[in-house]
Amino acid sequence: MKTPVPDYLDEVLDSLRDDTGGANADYIPELAEADPERFGMALTTTLGRTYAAGDADTEFSIQSISKPFAYAAAIIDRGLDHVLEFVGVEPSGEAFNELSLEGDTHRPKNPMINAGAITTHSLLVGAGASQGDRVDRALTFFSRLAGRDLRVDERVCASELGSAHRNLAIAYMLRTYGIIDEDVPSIVEGYTRQCSILVSVRDLSVMAATLATGGIQPVTGERLMDPGVARHVMAVMAAAGMYDAAGDWLTRVGIPAKSGVAGGIVGVLPDRAGVGTFSPRLDSHGNSRRGRLVFERLSRDMGLHLF
Ligand code: DON
Repeated sequence: MKTPVPDYLDEVLDSLRDDTGGANADYIPELAEADPERFGMALTTTLGRTYAAGDADTEFSIQSISKPFAYAAAIIDRGLDHVLEFVGVEPSGEAFNELSLEGDTHRPKNPMINAGAITTHSLLVGAGASQGDRVDRALTFFSRLAGRDLRVDERVCASELGSAHRNLAIAYMLRTYGIIDEDVPSIVEGYTRQCSILVSVRDLSVMAATLATGGIQPVTGERLMDPGVARHVMAVMAAAGMYDAAGDWLTRVGIPAKSGVAGGIVGVLPDRAGVGTFSPRLDSHGNSRRGRLVFERLSRDMGLHLF
């Protein structure tokens, strides 16, 4: 017998299955090849109960959804004040792959855009860390957030590295301004590996639920960050997680969220739940189109808008 929540989630996916708007990301060849019909979602409550529908166990690369979690790790490793010296917290109002640096400090405007996330990755662990140390930090932390051992998709990583000219250009600019202090190709490779970690919507919903509890992984019960870190990360997601669509998203959906070019979206309802969706076709802002429609329905039907 089915229970009402999964029935509802199935119905939400079914109602949007025919929407074929948008297109797979094509600047990473491996993502262009992904099956565009894949569609799944999961919701995990702060008590650790997960409800899932559709392709809930299909793995896809986390891409930019890694950014808020790596940002949390960098704050844990280096302290908020240190991280704020190198990355700001203002919405950029620009696409994710624009340089978007502050005029006076040359800090990237926030950690959700590529410039800010490449910088955040370079701050992981501590001064003198190797590429392996930083990637390992991200992989280990994400695995504890998800409650299972995650791994890097080497094909996606190689595919992106083969055409990472823009991220290399961004990172070289950051290096000239002294925001990055390390070997640029090595930082970009490490960041790309972080983006190539494979997750399912089930994983994403648990990772997000860990932010929603204020830092306690709700299934394992492990404290992974202080409440102040979780609050800071959720606030930055609300301000900048959806790039140049952040204001439209916050008014229409009202759930702090972060998207990735593989088609994932993660959303956090403080004190309530974490949500993950997956559908590869993207809108013009680089956000999953059917994922956005799912979040709009959840927000409306379940009264999840924060305001
Ligand atoms: O750096 C990149 O371009 C990708 N690894 C991640 C970009 C991304 O996911 C943008 N999000 N919608």
